[in-house]
Amino acid sequence: MPWPPLVIKEMELPIPIIQGGMGVGISLHRLASAVSNAGGLGVIAAAAIGLERIETVKDLRRADEEVLKEEIRLAKEMAPGKPIGVNIMVAVTNYEEKVKAAIDAGADAIISGAGLPLTLPQVAEGKDVLLIPIVSSAKAAEVILKRWWKRHKRLPDAFVLEGPLAGGHLGFSEEELVEEKVPDVFSILEELIHLTDKWRIKTGYKIPVIVAGGIYRGWEVRRAIEMGAAGVQMATRFVATHECDADVAFKEMYVKAKKEDVLIIKSPVGMPARALRTSFVERMLKGETVPVRCPYNCLKPCNPKKVPYCIAEALIRAKRGDTENGLFFCGARVYEVDGIYSVKEVFEQLKREYEA
Ligand SMILES: Cc1cc2nc3c(=O)[nH]c(=O)nc-3n(C[C@H](O)[C@H](O)[C@H](O)COP(=O)(O)O)c2cc1C
Repeated sequence: MPWPPLVIKEMELPIPIIQGGMGVGISLHRLASAVSNAGGLGVIAAAAIGLERIETVKDLRRADEEVLKEEIRLAKEMAPGKPIGVNIMVAVTNYEEKVKAAIDAGADAIISGAGLPLTLPQVAEGKDVLLIPIVSSAKAAEVILKRWWKRHKRLPDAFVLEGPLAGGHLGFSEEELVEEKVPDVFSILEELIHLTDKWRIKTGYKIPVIVAGGIYRGWEVRRAIEMGAAGVQMATRFVATHECDADVAFKEMYVKAKKEDVLIIKSPVGMPARALRTSFVERMLKGETVPVRCPYNCLKPCNPKKVPYCIAEALIRAKRGDTENGLFFCGARVYEVDGIYSVKEVFEQLKREYEA
């Protein structure tokens, strides 16, 4: 059985796979355009994207929007006629301005999590762009549905359902994650499909659900689709591709990673996050700090006066290949990454496994 296309309103992708947005320089125009050219949806992540051009967070406010627009323009140039998504976390400062900038620059979809994107329909009103919230529970999806419908008579064009095995900041408590108390993504999927069925009866539109977090193999894509999902979102696997925008040392960290190297840390901005054990992480766990001079405050929950280190600077050091001082976000199954491939090869493997 061949895999079905992923259809979200008028967008039809031959491959039912979205590449998860990866902030602070990991998914930029090179990776996003390669994924879209191959038939999936490539996604540029907006978080602290301005650090591409500047060394420290000092001038980030100005650089962020300029670089975001430039990256979208470059991705569109490299993938002509193909859709490009933009991941903008609700937790970023000037969220609404960034959404507007991305839409002006031609983004085809805005994908937003790390908070509930309650203002998104208003910011994107009248624009031809898909609005896709990321949720970690059916309950969060219901809050969004009710609010968007009541205030704007609008539904999300799709949902990304991100489970507990995802990389980066996570929508569960640290305790739930460490003690593995969270249900797996497939059981949350059942609840969410049930909810979207109810809303289909009410409104006539069946909201497609895209499953994320720990999806690595073609048979897992198949399981998601057989359970009623429209597709999957994958991030960690796309880091270990030639086209990923991170330094090759970042990709090699993934290839070398073992199960015991994967940690849940408390990010300086309060949310739990999944990252690789590096000497930087060990130093921070011991209580060391790195002085922060930040005039910008790129994430709303961050208090630069109180945090032990600047997360954006730690992440950009990782992106640039500083294995000693970088913070390397990763998904729970990163230790299964066994080499660096092209995006096309990753898709070919997944397709073979799906069909088998
Ligand atoms: C290095 C890295 C950075 C990430 N950055 C972001 C981000 O900026 N915004 C976001 O919504 N999700 C972010 N994520 C989550 C991914 O988009 C994705 O949903 C998740 O990692 C999927 O799980 P997988 O990595 O197991 O495939 C990040 C994940 C990784 C691995």
